Amino acid sequence: EKGNFRHFMAKEMHEQPEVVAHTLAHYLDMASDTVQLPGNLPFDFAKLERVSIAACGTAYYAGLVAKYWFERYARLPVEIDVASEFRYREAPLPANGLSIVISQSGETADTLASLRYARDAKQHLLAVVNVPTSTIAREADVIMPTLAGPEIGVASTKAFTCQLATLAAVAVAAGRARGVISAAEERSLVHALVEVPRLMNEALKLEGDIEHLARSFAKTQDVLYLGRGTSYPLALEGALKLKEISYIHAEGYAAGELKHGPIALIDEKMPVVVIAPHDAVFEKTMSNMQEVAARGGRIILITDATGAAKASLETEATLVLPDMHPLVAPLVYAIPVQLLAYHTAVVMGTDVDQPRNLAKSVTVE
Ligand code: M6R
Repeated sequence: EKGNFRHFMAKEMHEQPEVVAHTLAHYLDMASDTVQLPGNLPFDFAKLERVSIAACGTAYYAGLVAKYWFERYARLPVEIDVASEFRYREAPLPANGLSIVISQSGETADTLASLRYARDAKQHLLAVVNVPTSTIAREADVIMPTLAGPEIGVASTKAFTCQLATLAAVAVAAGRARGVISAAEERSLVHALVEVPRLMNEALKLEGDIEHLARSFAKTQDVLYLGRGTSYPLALEGALKLKEISYIHAEGYAAGELKHGPIALIDEKMPVVVIAPHDAVFEKTMSNMQEVAARGGRIILITDATGAAKASLETEATLVLPDMHPLVAPLVYAIPVQLLAYHTAVVMGTDVDQPRNLAKSVTVE
């Protein structure tokens, strides 16, 4: 079942161009360059007061990216919490609120409990799920399926990028319904999404360089991941992926938080992965990178062609992706981040698909 791959995780990472294309095809009408959400929505995006997102782990990070998108493209206020907090914090939820839960398995106990909390609080319920027969899929008012196919590796990879593809489509649809984006803008966003599978194939070509980098990563104790905007959740995701499969301690931070504490950790031994597409906050991230360099930190920069040309600093390694629309950067940048964790774990010799102490689906709280 693993085909030519050594692990399910490797196979699943490499399936991403295909399954993301499949997922996008479910939500985009390529003939008219528009987003067409399947089925009839039992609510109107234009009338929504607020969105509340709850999810766990990697699915939560997909939700964090979506928060930026809903706010930017649909001017919809979003609150987001990990499901284990959301279910107990007794948050007041507005009339005409939409609750979005995100789950690969559709069986995560805290995420399911969050859905039920939102139902009791009379929210509209939308679930982004990968397993269509799951409890969460059954209990939501609307399901937006991710068409990633079965994900076997405990570390979520293709489910994450398919969640992002689905949420991007929902955010664009919301933006149109709320009159925030024009038909022309919708067309250009759809064009950007259609490019994702090709961009992902480009990203997969970095594998050789990343394998090389992984050899030095395997000798380190701690790694810091930094990013701003939608690259901030990617930093969190990179750190989670590395921790769960290589057992190396890693932390993700919003780059602007560096000087509020974590900068104290930086020395010549500490690799710092900087995720910085050339977007509206690129210069800000570069100045944080300067601060790391000034303290002798080892910088691994993940950027695009324009960003690489503009970054004037010496890095230990620079992974260069093609330039792309900012909407789609999180989907494509996920790939080098996953590959780095994967190859580090392979060098360490851990059980990549079944890391210690972890279960694929967490059905108890
Ligand atoms: O099945 P779910 O998407 O609800 O699972 C949520 C988390 O348990 C999951 O994403 C976990 O964090 C992964 N092992 C991360 O790789």
